[in-house]
Amino acid sequence: MSSTEAPRSRIAPAGSGELVVAVDTPSLDAALRLRDRLAGAAPWFKVGKELFTAAGPRAVREFADAGRVFLDLKFHDIPATVAGAVRAGAALGAGIVDVHASGGEPMIAAAAEAAANAPEPPILLAVTVLTHLDEQAAANVYGRPLAAQVRRLARIARAGGAAGVVASALEAAALREEFGDGFVLLVPGIRPRWAAAAHDQRRVATPAEAARRGANYIVVGRAITGNSDPRTAALRVRDEVADLGP
Ligand code: C5P
Repeated sequence: MSSTEAPRSRIAPAGSGELVVAVDTPSLDAALRLRDRLAGAAPWFKVGKELFTAAGPRAVREFADAGRVFLDLKFHDIPATVAGAVRAGAALGAGIVDVHASGGEPMIAAAAEAAANAPEPPILLAVTVLTHLDEQAAANVYGRPLAAQVRRLARIARAGGAAGVVASALEAAALREEFGDGFVLLVPGIRPRWAAAAHDQRRVATPAEAARRGANYIVVGRAITGNSDPRTAALRVRDEVADLGP
């Protein structure tokens, strides 16, 4: 079954590290060029704040035709507003949508209900601690150790009915152990060894490390999209994960 035929509600198994390519481009034209260069090499595309703000819903529809779409707008607002945004994202064809876990259990519950009631329910994830924050920066924001904050937010996410969380590979193994294989872990901050730059990310890991620690999904942006041959880079990431075996 090709990725475009897979039902939107199918969840990649724990540890499978299914690839999500982050399409962070300033225009729809640039995004579509990338989409065409990646044809058949990426099961998922992530439309985030940059592209969505520049190009709007059309960007989601264009990518929903080429693969499955993670609409990464990290909603964080009052429950009714977030529920409406999740409904709108589902109607656009998003297969994954996310909210900030720090919006609290009632907000997550409203989002989960909206997702579950959509004609084609997207997977609802809650963002824990962004992967550009290191221990010190996270402590400055949250006043507690990073791992504890991630765990706390993941518990809130689960209590609210999210399918899983967005966290870094550094926390993935502990989350997998606490929440079991039925909890979805989507891991950004992925840097293959051959992509030297970490950019603004601090809590990074290779694709294989993230999958080994239990990631259902790995998000890779600039290591693929900034490569002179993004298609080969995407296939290389997938090979690295596939080499781990089932
Ligand atoms: O280019 P890079 O691989 O760093 O892209 C990572 C992508 O994942 C970006 O689009 C960023 O917005 C997103 N993201 C993240 N950390 C999170 C959630 C999402 O880096 N916790």
